[in-house]
Amino acid sequence: MTSDTFLKGKTAVITGGTRGIGLAIAKGLASHGCSVVICGRSQKPVDEAVAAIRDTANGGSKVAGMPADVSNYESVVEFFRYADDELGGIDIVVNNAGIGIFKKTSELTVEDWRQTIGLNLDGVFYVTKEALGRFQKQSGGGYLFQISSLAAKNPFAGGAAYNASKFGLNGFSEALMLDHRQDNVRVTSIMPGSVSTEFSPGGSTKGADWKIAPEDISDIVLSLLRLPGRTLVSRVEVRPAKPPKA
Ligand SMILES: NC(=O)c1ccc[n+]([C@@H]2O[C@H](COP(=O)([O-])OP(=O)(O)OC[C@H]3O[C@@H](n4cnc5c(N)ncnc54)[C@H](OP(=O)(O)O)[C@@H]3O)[C@@H](O)[C@H]2O)c1
Repeated sequence: MTSDTFLKGKTAVITGGTRGIGLAIAKGLASHGCSVVICGRSQKPVDEAVAAIRDTANGGSKVAGMPADVSNYESVVEFFRYADDELGGIDIVVNNAGIGIFKKTSELTVEDWRQTIGLNLDGVFYVTKEALGRFQKQSGGGYLFQISSLAAKNPFAGGAAYNASKFGLNGFSEALMLDHRQDNVRVTSIMPGSVSTEFSPGGSTKGADWKIAPEDISDIVLSLLRLPGRTLVSRVEVRPAKPPKA
């Protein structure tokens, strides 16, 4: 357990914190003294994740969570009201919840497309909108982390819906950064390659030995939070150092 509580007194909202990258970031922030609120779609995984994050929390940080569907604007509004009540102010927002449906374009259903864009792009806009309203009321502004992907710049077969959502996410995030950086709003897009989570088709952590660990993404978030305010990293590309040779 770390004794470096450089985020003591800070607060964060993380979407999709029940497992994978979101859970690792929530644990990383809480272990450095940041109070965190997470969501996922159902109560039980949220409760389990909150308990696991509390185990790593340090410096009196508060940990809470509620079920919310990020692809639904009313649900996002309710989630942010809950976060306001739990945290009293929001300094950091991590747009992490995302899905991948990987099919040839001719096999993608309208529902596959809507689900992917509805969460990975519409949902990020809903969360960003709620975050910005709060950041603008706080003179200190705030920090938005957008969990994008290398799929935001590298199209691949079977990735049409996912590529479209993440290419769109990067365009949105960089315009957003330019719109609001003078208002003390910091925006960083983190673009990982393969991370060892249940995200990949089949839902396994297969390849854990060569893939990026979710904790490494958390460490990147923590190191960005340590940067002085004069410097802003707008995009971080992250890849496994030694993927299997083709
Ligand atoms: N793993 C990779 O290789 C990789 C690489 C690059 C980028 N990414 C990106 O990283 C992010 C996190 O991925 P991950 O690998 O950690 O995936 P994961 O293990 O599948 O976790 C996804 C998280 O999102 C939540 N979620 C899904 N749909 C949601 C919804 N409609 N509303 C609220 N929460 C929802 C899930 O919670 P519930 O299921 O409990 O609702 C879960 O907590 C995604 O944006 C993904 O695109 C992943």
